[in-house]
Amino acid sequence: MEAKENPYLAHTKRGREPIRQKRINVNKDGGDSTHEAFGRSVPERTRTPLKRFKYGNYRNYYGYRNKSMGIDSRLQLLDPALFKHKRVLDIGCNSGILTIDVALYLQPRYILGVDIDADLIHAAIKEVRLVNSLLPPMHKRAEALDQLNTAHLVDIKSYFPKSMPAMFGTIYIDPTSNTTQFPHNIHFRHSGNWIEEEDEHEPYDILLALSISKWIHLNWGDQGIKDFFHKAYRSLQDGGMFVLEAQPWKNYKNAFSQSPELRENYKKLQFLPQEFEAYLLETVGFRYVEVLGASENAVEGFQRTMAIYFK
Ligand SMILES: C[S@@+](CC[C@H](N)C(=O)[O-])C[C@H]1O[C@@H](n2cnc3c(N)ncnc32)[C@H](O)[C@@H]1O
Repeated sequence: MEAKENPYLAHTKRGREPIRQKRINVNKDGGDSTHEAFGRSVPERTRTPLKRFKYGNYRNYYGYRNKSMGIDSRLQLLDPALFKHKRVLDIGCNSGILTIDVALYLQPRYILGVDIDADLIHAAIKEVRLVNSLLPPMHKRAEALDQLNTAHLVDIKSYFPKSMPAMFGTIYIDPTSNTTQFPHNIHFRHSGNWIEEEDEHEPYDILLALSISKWIHLNWGDQGIKDFFHKAYRSLQDGGMFVLEAQPWKNYKNAFSQSPELRENYKKLQFLPQEFEAYLLETVGFRYVEVLGASENAVEGFQRTMAIYFK
C-alpha cells in the first residue's frame, strides 16, 4: 500500500511532510531572534529565566540525595518504637519521599508534611498514590512491617511494577477511612512560611526539621531561625521530640547560586549552627538532647548529624 493511502504510515518518516527549516538570527547585541525561514517573522524569543530554588525547594531533591537508595538512609537512625502510633509534623517535606518512608515504615498514627512550595506538595500527594499502588496487599504488608528492622530495611515499595499504575491508574484511597495505617496516616498541606503560620491547634509528639535550618537561616536571618526553634518548641507536647538535622556552616555557601539575596543575608549572620544546641537547651527550654550521629550517604555533603531534643 502506498504511504499516502495508509493512515498509520502517514505519521512515519516516509509519509510525513518535509519539516520547514528554522533559522536563528543572532542580533548585533548578541541576543537572538527566531524567524521562519520563509520570511514571516514571529515574536522575539524571550530567554526563559533559569529556575532557582531559594528555599531549598529543589524539584529532584531525592533523585540527587538518595541516588540508588530505595529507602532514605536517615530512617536507620530513627527508632520505630519512638514513632509508632505517634502524631508527627514534617516541616519542609519537599516532594514527600522521606515523609512517605516515615509514614510507611515507622507507622505513626498521623503524619503531616508541610512545605512552602505548593507544587512540591502537589507532587507529594501524587507520590502517595503511586507508592500505595506498588505496595503488597494489606495482609502481606503487615507481615513485612511486623518484622521491621530499621538497620536492614527491606524495600516493600516495589511489590508491583510501576507499569501497573501506569496502565491501570493508581489505586483509590478512601478519604473517609478512619484507620491509621498507610496511606490513611499521611497528609500533606501547603503551608507558606511555617514560622509565620498560626500556632498548631493540637500539639505534636514529634517534629521533623530535616535539612531545612540552612534555608530558614539564609532567608529569614538569625531572628528567623530562632523564631523557628521557639515555634517548634510550642508545637510539641511535654515529652515531645524535635528531630533536627541541621546543615553545617560550611554547607551554607552552596546556596548562593540560588539567589544573590542569600549571599547578602549570609554576611549578616552571627548565630552559627554550632551554637544551635546551646540555644535550644539553654534559651528555648528543651530538657536534653540525644545525638543520633550522621546517616550514611554516598553523596558528598549529605552525611549530616541528626539529633533529638526532648521537651
Ligand atoms: C532541602 S529540602 C529538605 C526536604 C526534607 N525535609 C528532607 O530532608 O528530606 C528543604 C525544604 O524545606 C522547604 N522550606 C524552606 N523554608 C520553609 C519554610 N519557612 N516553611 C516551610 N517550608 C520551607 C523547602 O521548600 C524545601 O522543600
